[in-house]
Amino acid sequence: MGTYRPEWAPDIIDLETPSAARMYDYYLGGSHNFAADRELAEQALKAWPETPYMCRANRAFLRRAVTFLAEQGVDQFLDLGSGIPTSGNVHEIAESVLPEARTVYVDCDAVAYAHGRALLADDPQATYVQADLRDPESVLSSPEVTAQLDFSRPVAVLMLMTLHFVPDSDDPAGIVAAYRQAVAPGSYFVFSHGTNEYRPADTGGITKVYTQASHGIVPRDRARIQELAAGWELLEPGLTDVILWRPEPSELEDDPLGGDVTRYSTFAGVGRSS
Ligand SMILES: C[S@@+](CC[C@H](N)C(=O)[O-])C[C@H]1O[C@@H](n2cnc3c(N)ncnc32)[C@H](O)[C@@H]1O
Repeated sequence: MGTYRPEWAPDIIDLETPSAARMYDYYLGGSHNFAADRELAEQALKAWPETPYMCRANRAFLRRAVTFLAEQGVDQFLDLGSGIPTSGNVHEIAESVLPEARTVYVDCDAVAYAHGRALLADDPQATYVQADLRDPESVLSSPEVTAQLDFSRPVAVLMLMTLHFVPDSDDPAGIVAAYRQAVAPGSYFVFSHGTNEYRPADTGGITKVYTQASHGIVPRDRARIQELAAGWELLEPGLTDVILWRPEPSELEDDPLGGDVTRYSTFAGVGRSS
């Protein structure tokens, strides 16, 4: 007997291959995942038990960064590798500050796309596109993107917890540079990336688990992650641990991992183009 297929999961969705997007949904306590996703996610949790905290800290960084940019007047957001919609989506945060803000979500995952489309059906200012972010030219020229975003004005390009799914052989630095070159001066780059800086041995475990998923995972060290953001002028505090990018004082006081950045093993930053 095959895996139970809910009504919202179209036939094209492969329920048997664990999906990085659906595993992330599982870590965050979402319900858009299947048995194969949950089984592999449980293996990942054995290798890296802090993963759910890491994912929540990443979402908190996203909220702080998008709020900050919207408060600066940035009203266009291109969220690459946006994942399955969850609480605190980019368009909700941006529109709460700037009601006219526009957002395009891009993800290759069919479940993320199906839910994104359904969620955004009644919001003319936000769109979900199913595409491969490794092909900047086709993402940037897609009709949904060009209809929603005006590239003669600044855009915030987001790649959170996504570049570590792009192997070196696909030239992640070149991909980031292509987006930078396509946006107007004064645009922003918001990114986070899993790191092996603190625990190279442990990340070996998680890397092996993800070889069975839709996307392999490539944790990188600080220097390499810094290189991926080349050409973007990083705002204070620069490339930093995910919980340390402009946290609310209460977030640090109540940090569930006692502020131990090594247990998050994720770097984050916000850069500006000139
Ligand atoms: C860990 S989730 C992060 C979701 C969201 N950005 C966040 O930080 O909460 C990574 C997402 O990147 C997507 N992804 C990975 N490689 C991709 C690619 N080449 N093109 C588009 N999406 C990709 C996955 O499908 C997944 O939804």
